[in-house]
Amino acid sequence: MESVDYYAALAALDWQIELGADECIANAPVDRYDVPSPAPKPAAPVVANAPSPAPVMAEDPVAIARAAAEAAPDLDGLRAALEAYEHCELKRGARNLVFSDGVRGARVMIVGEAPGRDEDRVGKPFVGAAGQLLDKMLAAIDLSREASVYITNVLPWRPPQNRDPKPEEVAMMQPFLQRHIALAAPEVVVIMGNHACQTLLGKRGITRLRGDWTEAEGKPALPMFHPAYLLRNPAAKREAWADLLSLKARLRNG
Ligand code: URA
Repeated sequence: MESVDYYAALAALDWQIELGADECIANAPVDRYDVPSPAPKPAAPVVANAPSPAPVMAEDPVAIARAAAEAAPDLDGLRAALEAYEHCELKRGARNLVFSDGVRGARVMIVGEAPGRDEDRVGKPFVGAAGQLLDKMLAAIDLSREASVYITNVLPWRPPQNRDPKPEEVAMMQPFLQRHIALAAPEVVVIMGNHACQTLLGKRGITRLRGDWTEAEGKPALPMFHPAYLLRNPAAKREAWADLLSLKARLRNG
């Protein structure tokens, strides 16, 4: 059989699942009642006073992430540190690292959740339908990723099937996000949706949190509805508009 590498196999599987495949079928049927059950394992011999095995020092992926992120001297260094980080399983299923888009040094930094399929393909955050709405929202208050906004996500790799980020994935990526904000040094941070709120504020409940200025990583921060939520709930655009005006006023006065 032609050899297929891990990433190609995972991408092929991902593609089949996206097409709706939910079962693996072999070339020939297998009679599961006729498959011999495995022989029982022999019991381990009992050795009196045997020394207990030395504890294995498991690597701590969060500590490794923290050290790597803190050592990054600038945004390019941080990107390189993420590219070199091998402890997050999401990386293996993703086509691209999605690091950031927009203007470095912008007054506004937007933090979203995670790349979707379009972002994974292109390697930039917010390029799909939610991103197009985000661009319109920004344009409504004279901002744009081309001129005045810097954008990133909590997770830099696409979760399979766009599932929610797992707590351990967020914990690994949090040091990178914290360093990202420190290095980008925006005046204000806009926190899009519940997952970004959970990561940066330690709480969720975007319907209550949105619109109230708070602080994240030492910066004034504004939680807002995520554009993907607005696509599903157009009635909430009214609140999003109020939040955009609040952002505009803050930038004008700040
Ligand atoms: N949703 C996000 O939170 N981020 C993206 O980059 C795209 C969609």
